[in-house]
Amino acid sequence: MCAQESSTPDYTMGFSEEMLESLRRFTAETHAGHLLPHLRPGLRVLDFGCGPGTISVGLAKAVHPGEFHGVDMEESQIDQAREIAQFRRQDKAVFHVGDVTALEFEDGFFDVAHCHNLLMHVPDTHAVLTEVKRVLKPGGLIACREMICESSFTQPDFGVIGKSWDMFQDLLQADDGHPQMGRELKGHILAAGFENVRSTNSFDIYSAPADVAFIHGFAKQWFLAPEIVEAAIKYGAATPELCAEMGAAYDRWKDHPGAMCALAFGEAIANRPQ
Ligand SMILES: C[S@@+](CC[C@H](N)C(=O)[O-])C[C@H]1O[C@@H](n2cnc3c(N)ncnc32)[C@H](O)[C@@H]1O
Repeated sequence: MCAQESSTPDYTMGFSEEMLESLRRFTAETHAGHLLPHLRPGLRVLDFGCGPGTISVGLAKAVHPGEFHGVDMEESQIDQAREIAQFRRQDKAVFHVGDVTALEFEDGFFDVAHCHNLLMHVPDTHAVLTEVKRVLKPGGLIACREMICESSFTQPDFGVIGKSWDMFQDLLQADDGHPQMGRELKGHILAAGFENVRSTNSFDIYSAPADVAFIHGFAKQWFLAPEIVEAAIKYGAATPELCAEMGAAYDRWKDHPGAMCALAFGEAIANRPQ
């Protein structure tokens, strides 16, 4: 139900400037810290659902002079990823437009496959994981980090901000997404035939004044953008009155000295059997 112009109209998040700004805050150091100790120069890495490539370039750097490939179904994201890779001097990183359920690589091509906030958006989790297993070498490593929407919170809540999270989860579900994927990872990864699963959890914390201002802007201009509100009303996930209340609550929240927001994540690392 992507509200903005894109080559992938069924993708919930869309590609508005606010959404892209949120993704640009991610780096390999801040959002793939569970994987970095497993990377070394010379490995061949896949980032499936790489988006604008801000995490990708850090992964590419960690395996240089190895090989890095990023795949995303949205052309505009691949264009951005190529630009960012040039800017960060990762000229060897290769980015492809493609679907993660039908990868263009031969069997056993990669040492490592990584994704961040991808599985929560793809309806058929098993199809993605079995396709990724196919392109991994025997013994190769998969590393996933996905949100747990139910465990994320905004404080103080004023009795209404949490409802914007409910609305987001309803919208994701309307697109056959998985709002709690971060806590379901271990089961899905085992079901796809991986072994040696190591699970962890973490929060992204937004508490410094600039982070609070960022979340406020994001909530007002993405969560509560006219297109999203229209979609939420259409899918029965909100009413115009509730959206107005949520907007006013976010304005109060921004100026509250105790304002903070915590996004909950689950991570899992596992191996393709030998
Ligand atoms: C929330 S973004 C995450 C981007 C990046 N991994 C990050 O965390 O910065 C999810 C990305 O997955 C991509 N995506 C969703 N379904 C896909 C599919 N079936 N095949 C390839 N990419 C997909 C979207 O285009 C989007 O760029």
